[in-house]
Parts: sequence; C-alpha cells; structure tokens
Amino acid sequence: MRLVRVLLLVVAPTFLSSILQAQAPPPHLDDPIIEQRITHLLGQMTLEEKVAQTVHLADSSTGPGSAHSDYREQIAQGHVGSFENITGAPETNALQKLAVEKSRLHIPLLFALDVIHGYRTIFPVPLGMASSWDPGLVEQASRIAAKEATSEGIRWTFSPMVDIARDARWGRMVEGAGEDPYLGSAMAVAYVRGYQGARLDDPQSMLACVKHFVGYGAAEAGRDYNSVDISEHTLRQIYLPPFHAAVKAGGGSVMSAFNSLNGVPATSNRFILTHILREEWGFPGVVISDYGSVAETIAHGIALDGKIAARKAILAGLDVDLEGNVYSRYLAELVRSGAVPESAVDQAARRMLRIKFALGLFDHPYTAAPAASGKPRLDPANVEFARAVAEHSFVLLKNEDSGGSPPLPLSRDVRTIALIGPLADSASDMLGPWRARGDAADVVTLRTALTSRLQQSGGKVIYAKGTEILTAEGNLFAEAVAAAKQADVVIMALGEDALWMSAEAASRAHLGLPGNQQQLLEAVAATGKPVVLIVFSGRPLILTWAASHVPAILQAWFPGMQAGPALVRTLFGDVSPSAKLTVSIPRSVGQEPLYYNELNTGRPADGIDLSRPPRNDVEKYHSRYVDEPNAPLFPFGYGLSYTKFTYSPLELSASQVSASGLNQKTAHPLHVSTTVRNAGPRPGEEVVELYLRIRGTSVAFPVKQLEGFRKLTLAPGESKRVEFTLGRDELAFWNIDMQLLVEPANTTVWIGPSSAEGESADFVIAQ
Ligand code: BGC
Repeated sequence: MRLVRVLLLVVAPTFLSSILQAQAPPPHLDDPIIEQRITHLLGQMTLEEKVAQTVHLADSSTGPGSAHSDYREQIAQGHVGSFENITGAPETNALQKLAVEKSRLHIPLLFALDVIHGYRTIFPVPLGMASSWDPGLVEQASRIAAKEATSEGIRWTFSPMVDIARDARWGRMVEGAGEDPYLGSAMAVAYVRGYQGARLDDPQSMLACVKHFVGYGAAEAGRDYNSVDISEHTLRQIYLPPFHAAVKAGGGSVMSAFNSLNGVPATSNRFILTHILREEWGFPGVVISDYGSVAETIAHGIALDGKIAARKAILAGLDVDLEGNVYSRYLAELVRSGAVPESAVDQAARRMLRIKFALGLFDHPYTAAPAASGKPRLDPANVEFARAVAEHSFVLLKNEDSGGSPPLPLSRDVRTIALIGPLADSASDMLGPWRARGDAADVVTLRTALTSRLQQSGGKVIYAKGTEILTAEGNLFAEAVAAAKQADVVIMALGEDALWMSAEAASRAHLGLPGNQQQLLEAVAATGKPVVLIVFSGRPLILTWAASHVPAILQAWFPGMQAGPALVRTLFGDVSPSAKLTVSIPRSVGQEPLYYNELNTGRPADGIDLSRPPRNDVEKYHSRYVDEPNAPLFPFGYGLSYTKFTYSPLELSASQVSASGLNQKTAHPLHVSTTVRNAGPRPGEEVVELYLRIRGTSVAFPVKQLEGFRKLTLAPGESKRVEFTLGRDELAFWNIDMQLLVEPANTTVWIGPSSAEGESADFVIAQ
C-alpha cells in the first residue's frame, strides 16, 4: 500500500470550552410568553391542582391495591402531573386524553421513561459509548433514542446519568461516562443536545433529566445507596462539573440522588438543590426526586414521618415526588396548616408547567399513533448506526506481538474458531441494563455473526458454552477444552450478567469473572491455543491473570443489539479498535476507589519499585501497598489500535501566561500543539488526550487532570497537527477560598495516548 504523507492541522479550542462558550439560554425555559401563560393558569388552579403537578406516578403505585390503583380516575380529576413506565402510543394517548379532556383545567400529563442507551434501537451501555471519546456519536445516538421514544408519547427521559464513578464496586458505573469530570461533562452535554434537539417543542424532542444530584457515585465502599461524604472542594472540582455543563447546555430537569451528602439526604439537601442549583447556576427547570426517595428520608433519620419528609423536601427545593406518595398525601395539608408557604408549592408547580409548555404539550398533547399497536418498527439505518457506535466502544487492552504477528486482527484465512463462554450467545445480556423497548429477539449475538462470517469464508465455528455466567453449575469444561483443541484460534466470551450484576443495586465486593469463568479461562488457555478474550461487563473486572496469560483482550462492555456484527468486524480488522478507557482497570479490589487524577500526597512512591514488597524503610514509608503496585492494570485513557501512532515533541506558543490576565480576560491563552502520525500499516482513529498538572497552588491539584481531547482519523503514514488552547477554562480550579480562579503556579502539560504516557512541556502561570 502506498504510504500517504500529509500534514493537516486540527485547530480548535478544547471541546468543552467551545461548547460552553457557545451557550444560548436553554430553549424555551426563559420565554416571557410562557411565563405569562403559567401565571394565568396558576391563578385558576386550586391548591390540590397545584400539588398535582408535583406528583409523579410510576407503575408500582398504580397496580391493584396500591396507593394509586385508581390512577385513571385521579388523572381525570387533574391529580397527577407526570407518569412513568407507560409505553406505546395508544396507551400514552389514552391517558393523555383523560388528562386533557376530562380534567378541569385540561393540563396535559408528561410521560417519562428511563431511556438510557436507546429506546427501540439499543446502543452500547453509556460506559461503552463514553469509551468512544466521541460526543458527536453519543449525541446522534441520543437523538435517535428521542425520535423513537417520542413516537410513543415519551417526552421525558431520566438520562443522562452524569455521576462521576471512581469505584468499580458500584454497579451504576455502567450508566455513566466513568471517572473523569472533563470527559463526563462533554458526554453530559452530548446527551442533552441529542435528547432535547434544537427546540424542546419539536415533537421529536425529549426532556433530559440529569442525574443523580449529587455525589451518588461516591457511595462509601461502592455499596449502592450508601452514604457519601465529600468536601465542598471535591464536590465542586470533581462531582459537580458534569451537572453544571448539562444545565448550561439547557438540560431541563435534574433528579436528586438517593444518598445522603455530608449527612443530609440529597432529596432534602438545600445546599445543593437551592443554593448551588438555583442561586448559583440559575437553573430554571424541574427537580424530581429519585424513586421513593422523599419518603426514604424517614429511614435516613431526618424525618419522623411522611409529613415531615414532604415538608423538608419541598422547602429544600425538591419540586416533584417520584413515587414517594408523600407530596400527594401531605402537601396541601402542610400548606393549610402554615407549615409550608403556598409560594413553595406555586414555585414547584410553575417549574413543572414551564417544562410542559416548553415541550409544547399544551398545544400538541398527543403523539401520532401508529396504525397498529405494538413496538415501533426498527429502522435499518438506526440499527446500522448502533453497529458503528458499538465498534467505537470496544477497548483493545492487549494484543501481544510475541515474535510472529499479534492475534488480532484474525487472519481472513482462519479455518476453525472455537467460540467459548456463556456470553457468546446470550442475546439478552448484550442489551445491558435499562433496555427500554429493546428486544432480545433483535440482538445479533457473537455466535450468530461469527458463524455466518465463517460460513462465507468456508471455515467453521465450534461453539461451547463452557459454563453459566453466575454459577459453577453446568460445568462443561471438557467440551470447551475439546473445542479449543480442534481450533486454530479460541475466542472466549466471558463477563458479567447484565441485569443482575450491573446498574442499580448491583454492587460487587469481588470484581473477578463471576461463577467459575476464571477456571474455564485457565482450563482453555492451558491447551496452548491462542486465546482472544472478550470481556462483557458494566464495569472494569479484575483481569490480572488474563493480562499475563492471554495474548489478546478486548473490553466490549455490553455492546447493544448489534454486538455480534460489530465484534466480528473488529476481530477481522474491517475496523480497528479506537476506544479508550474512561475508568481505570484495577489489579485487585483493594485498590478501589481507583482513579488517575489522584492527589500526590506528601509521600508519593515515585521512583520506588512497587512490583515487589518493600525491603527496607526507605521503600516502605511511602503511599503504597506492601502487597500490590499502586498503578492500575490498565490506566484511564488507555486503549490499543491495530495501527500505531506517534506524537512529536510539544510546541508551546509561550512559556508564561498571566493568572490575573486570564482571570480578568485580558490575557491571551497559551497554545500547545503536537503532530500525531499514523506510523502503522492500517487506517485508524486516535484519541489525543491533554493533561495538566499545576503545582504551587492554594489547594493541591491532581497528579494529572484531563483538560482536552480530540479524536483523529489517520490513514497510514498520515500526520495531523493538533493544537489545544490553554486559557481560563482549562487552568482555573476551585481554590482555597472556593473561587474558580487561575492561580500563579508551575504547570506541566502532557499530550498523549493515555493518562500514563505522552509528550510533556512546562510553563509558568505568573502573577
Ligand atoms: C433509579 C433512577 C431512575 C428511577 C426511575 C430509580 O430507581 O435510581 O435512576 O431514573 O428509578 O425509574
């Protein structure tokens, strides 16, 4: 192949600063005409009708014998504001008709659902999508989800989850973008843009709900719902940025978290719900509780009964009670007794009405019902796109070139492949948790796709399940080993159960391959056949043994409905893996919480050999383990490709920049650039990552912090120059006076392929 040598320049401000600077006011959430209509409507509403706007029902309170089993009647009387878990155009339209035609003031309902990574077309789980480092892809996937969901009357999704997750024991890591606030902010904005589109009143737009506010991912010991203690500094520096970015991008609703934050449940935490969200950020949208969490403040121990729970939450700034059933029961009474001012209910109702007006529901309450009921049809173009997104979510962790050629991509002439493992043919697990109206019957598994590929080339696949995902029962090792022995290459599909081990209430104290999959892996590897391990999971697993015994490892997350075709195209090199980790993969559970942007401590273990236990005091008295290295097995930002990229030394536009000048916006920012070259034989995409370390500041800054990234596509031999801007947005941080400012400091900047590698340069931030 002729090598093309071209030099292109990719200049742009860092992704986040460019989108945040381009902020318009949130569409329709500051419209004076809408405000007038709300004022007029509120003037006609009884107290009960206002309270109704704060009442959100879910299916669990509407079944026979439950609190709202007469929900149809309640809707007709105007006692319900919003509803979740109803799908299907005929169904949503029928309930809407009750609200619009029967209730006194004809106020429409708002239908919600957890549309997390697709509605009918199921994309990879959010952690997988984030691994693409491609916000454009995520925005497009979210737009598709919005179009499909709104066709069935769903105008509100409880997504994106933007919780920073630094602890892989926490099962909900799968629902977010990982451990980093900068990348997390970029992804948060992408989801909001995709769901909400250019205009909220576009019938194909869906209101985003940014969740879970805030600190949910910092649950102690990674145990879901557990308490959270975070300093205000860490809250502002790490946990709040993705929420702020989503709100600035116009995200119209926020969900409070289940956890307590510094002793006060997030659901009734005035500091976050009112001080930060409303007073500092000017958020005009609606805040909804998490499922039942208003009533759960009784269990937290800050409310003695439902009435107190309702009072504390509404006074803290919580607008809508999701399924707690305490606003519906007590709010009117609390107002009448003087315990809650009516203005608090007016305000909550106003915010919900603002959303409904902004969505255009008063003018167009119904969705165009399809001729026949049943699930919406799958659009082949969307399915094709789901495949492309999946291909961009696979992280190649290892591809050992031991003398000959690396195992991947597979040779097109391969004759016999043994496909082994309980996830090779499990359609349901490929969908991951939260699958909305996705259907396992539409999933193409790895087994199906691989078999059809090998049939075309005259080869064959010998499939052996080997074992179950979760249990040691059904030990079919002998069959698996026999399959491996007959094959040229073995592909093992191992990992987690998508529903039981991933997402809510799925914390794990052990992070190895579940059941007896590790033993299966070892038994198969003992055949000496080359093994390609594909890991399906919603979090990093402990792959320490595999990393030293298996030549190729591909982290596939839960890839969605096109899992099989996307994997097969990747395995055979039709596309090269291009994703990178957005979470650190630990060597052992004891390292958790584990994240790259840690503080240095007073006793960093720099220069100490951590691969063996300390042998003397000099080696021991450092911030280290005596029985495990500090470093992750695979670091944040890491991921291999089938080609190879090189980075040239960095060029800085100046060696100094002025802190006060940047703070006052009078100084020019710095520019830093590098040239990235595809030095390998194949086309590929490379995520170029920029990290900073700032020293000499009033509050310690992490050893590295991501402050920019760009994704490049490079032909073999092609080079592109990438330039990043380093200005106030990148250099400011929350200082000791809790101000977001640039401080005089010494700074190192790295640009490279991961958080652990890269070219570096130093500059000074002068007074
Ligand atoms: C989850 C939320 C979800 C809500 C509504 C809760 O259990 O924590 O993330 O949006 O249910 O279904």
